[in-house]
Amino acid sequence: MAREEFPVRGVDHVRFFVGNARQSAYFYRNAFGFDVIAYAGLETKLKHEAGYVLRQGKITFVLASALRPDHPESQRVVLHGDGVQDIALEVDDVQKAYDMATSRGAVGAVPPTLLEDEFGVYEYATIKAYGDTTHSFINRDRYRGVFAPGYLPIDPDRYGPRRLDPTGLVSIDHIVCNVEEGKMNEWVDFYRNVMGFEQLVHFDDKDISTEYSALMSKVVQNGTGRIKFPINEPAKGRRRSQIQEFLDFYGGPGVQHIAMTTTNIIQTVRAMRNNDVSFLRVPREYYEALPERVGKIDENIEDLAELGILVDRDDEGYLLQIFTKPVADRPTLFFEIIERHGSRSFGKGNFKALFEAIEREQARRGTL
Ligand code: FE2
Repeated sequence: MAREEFPVRGVDHVRFFVGNARQSAYFYRNAFGFDVIAYAGLETKLKHEAGYVLRQGKITFVLASALRPDHPESQRVVLHGDGVQDIALEVDDVQKAYDMATSRGAVGAVPPTLLEDEFGVYEYATIKAYGDTTHSFINRDRYRGVFAPGYLPIDPDRYGPRRLDPTGLVSIDHIVCNVEEGKMNEWVDFYRNVMGFEQLVHFDDKDISTEYSALMSKVVQNGTGRIKFPINEPAKGRRRSQIQEFLDFYGGPGVQHIAMTTTNIIQTVRAMRNNDVSFLRVPREYYEALPERVGKIDENIEDLAELGILVDRDDEGYLLQIFTKPVADRPTLFFEIIERHGSRSFGKGNFKALFEAIEREQARRGTL
């Protein structure tokens, strides 16, 4: 039984710490179709870092970079490369969330803090999670500014109106972390005991054929089901697990992928491909076997095959999904685009085809 939880409303934003936030903002804007809505930096009197707030649908990303070598996080990029620093969760009561989390064993990083400017009061606190990743608890009920104190709406001289269409991304579906071998259950317990989440499903090497990238995975979610965090650990297989590859290149546990929903995956993937986003490809045979495996679906299989979109079905319905290649040079963080038609699962039926596709990439990198 999950312990009594403090209400978590949803993911407020995901903060990435990167080598060059300005150029990352260009990528997420022009390739993924985000709007850049706010900026913090020297011009807004922030002395130590630059930050860009990007939004599409209900998704908010913050991209931050150190401005000086003595920034407290300046070594993060050396260690991990670009990656997710913080998954910020919106809560009713920051003080209560922090007190409950730390009393149940979470390690505090930033105690409850009030930031104030002419737009009101912004409240946050931060706890440590796996590796160097953190969870902030945020409450902005009394804040009317564009994002947070220090941030101002984007300077139009810096960013004119976006010339490309949005790609139709709507919300965050789930955020997946990779942890070290033997640590998955520890982090499942963390989310159950500290956050009051419950365990949803699990996959083991029976689901994820040992001939391919072996991994084990359990999914935790909050009370409303709005937040889903699958947790992967590497398992012994014949080849080096893709999870182990991540751990080696990231330098420890961290966020592996962020899945974002769309209501028209064909349009979304077409737009992102036109913007030069690279996706994993699956072989032609996948689509020949598809009608028999998933039955009737609304989409044209030719369109799916052209774009490389995967399909899976369970008792409740079906889902369409596709995975980008890693978005930086290190084979670490990537993104998933997902369209759900009733199914609430994660595409178990695609694991084999997917891992074969990932293994082809690993072979090209010489890391298999
Ligand atoms: Fe996923």
